[in-house]
Amino acid sequence: MMRVVGGSASVTLARGIARELDASYVDVAFEKHPGGFPDGERYVRLTASVAGDHVIVVQTTHPDPMLIELFLLADAIRDGGASQLTAVVPYFGYGRQDKRFLEGEAVSAKTIAKHLAVDCDELLTMAIHNPGILQTFPLPSREVSGMPAIGRYLKSAKVDMLLAPDRNAIRLAKEASKIAGVPFDSLEKRRIDSYTVKITPKALAVKGKFVAIVDDVISTGGTISMAARELRSQGARRVVAVGVHGLFVNNAEANLKTCDDVIATDTIQSPHTKVSVAPEFAAAIRALG
Ligand code: R5P
Repeated sequence: MMRVVGGSASVTLARGIARELDASYVDVAFEKHPGGFPDGERYVRLTASVAGDHVIVVQTTHPDPMLIELFLLADAIRDGGASQLTAVVPYFGYGRQDKRFLEGEAVSAKTIAKHLAVDCDELLTMAIHNPGILQTFPLPSREVSGMPAIGRYLKSAKVDMLLAPDRNAIRLAKEASKIAGVPFDSLEKRRIDSYTVKITPKALAVKGKFVAIVDDVISTGGTISMAARELRSQGARRVVAVGVHGLFVNNAEANLKTCDDVIATDTIQSPHTKVSVAPEFAAAIRALG
């Protein structure tokens, strides 16, 4: 039997995946006492047996306590006698530290994967910064694309074209543009530091057009706002921001005022969540066999 368990960062998406798969959903108690532990430590208790079952645990690993929760859930599911455990990590926090940039640093993405491999048999994630790193993880790991869901949404919104704000986003914009049935273009971005980006000027055919900027992550909104300003200065009529993962940290909301709308998926639940990637994860889980 297949069962789905959702961590507290991903309950809505996990329930959506369970519905798509026609699998039973296991509720989790996240507090031992009302209000939780006074020191903020996480707690989990499965409220149904998972013995002999293939369990899908769904949990985004942001912010940090959600990572601890995922490890606790995976351990409880294993101790509960699950026959197979698939980790669905919709947003893989720490994915951007995918190499040792400076001597002595941790390769954080690999660190997280190493700990997941203790209890999980395989990992499914989405729009990870560098999909190549999945090959170095010590458990079978696959990237599931969220672009079909985003492409369908943008098609129904009737956008005229998509824009990748940097090289890294080209593969995403390209895939979504095929599904939306519209062209795409891209910009060149230089990152000065974690808070500042610069965009190389480039002529874009956007005059009078409805353009969607498509990126993997919207964090501070710096990248999106630079791209939106460029589009506006070149005469775009309507500009919307689309991120697979909407982190929205620091002054993101102020930065994103440069856009007419902001759209994110349910890999991270936020007021901008307008697209569900449950069908994409369900299809990938079915394909596991
Ligand atoms: C970086 O290359 C990523 O693809 C995103 O463009 C970046 O993480 C977005 O960050 P921010 O919203 O802070 O510009």
